[in-house]
Amino acid sequence: MIAIFDSGLGGLSVLARVREALPRQDVIYLGDQAHAPYGDRPIEEIHRFAVENFAFFERAGAALLVIGCNTSCAAALTYGWPTALPVLDLFEAAGEAVAESQARDVVVLATTATVRSGGYARAIARRAPAVRVREVACPEFVPLVEAGRWDAPESRAAVRRILEPLGRPDAIVYGCTHYPFLDSHVDALLPHTLRIDPALQQARNAALAVSRRALPDESGLVRLYTTGDLDAFRRGVELLVGPIGTIAHASLAGV
Ligand code: DGL
Repeated sequence: MIAIFDSGLGGLSVLARVREALPRQDVIYLGDQAHAPYGDRPIEEIHRFAVENFAFFERAGAALLVIGCNTSCAAALTYGWPTALPVLDLFEAAGEAVAESQARDVVVLATTATVRSGGYARAIARRAPAVRVREVACPEFVPLVEAGRWDAPESRAAVRRILEPLGRPDAIVYGCTHYPFLDSHVDALLPHTLRIDPALQQARNAALAVSRRALPDESGLVRLYTTGDLDAFRRGVELLVGPIGTIAHASLAGV
């Protein structure tokens, strides 16, 4: 069983890719919506949330933790991953995806905590040192997606405010898993710019890890949990990815 973690709904963009790559693995997804958004919180606090959230996955018997939250990767740069599970880090997947794209001038859209960490710039520089990387914080985006307003005019306006001053980069990187849900707005403004969603590479890495660890095929069941409001979570999941699994509230004291 694969665990996928995010602060809220954004990790569903990773879940969708993981399902395509690994349809026969069971998946347990946790959105820590009681604490979302993470992006403007201190990384020490994000680390403390990870301790509880990852213990939930360990109790559930997950074999592999696929991170669907870049902001948690920012905290892990300082504090490490607080779990015994093998972890697939999104910054690494993003670095691989950018290097493979051949883009020379990239803009990474991300949360404030991710931008502050400089994790993207470093992950990209390790694999493609000549690439120019601009990291841009977009604190308005996550609350819009969490509120189910990704399609609203205010979301279009928020994306325009961010993109307009940035010119015409070779590529836009979605450095937060909520942002692929705003992709139509980015596409409308920069139709000739490559859009890189690290979730694709993350799903490839997950498939590789499953095969390396020889994890057996399962039934492909998906269980989704939130620490926040169950009805709001159910609405968000159905709007973003449709009916893909069972939905329940996560008590972090047990599964
Ligand atoms: N979706 C997450 C990320 O990739 C977290 C966003 C947030 O909670 O601010 O960073």
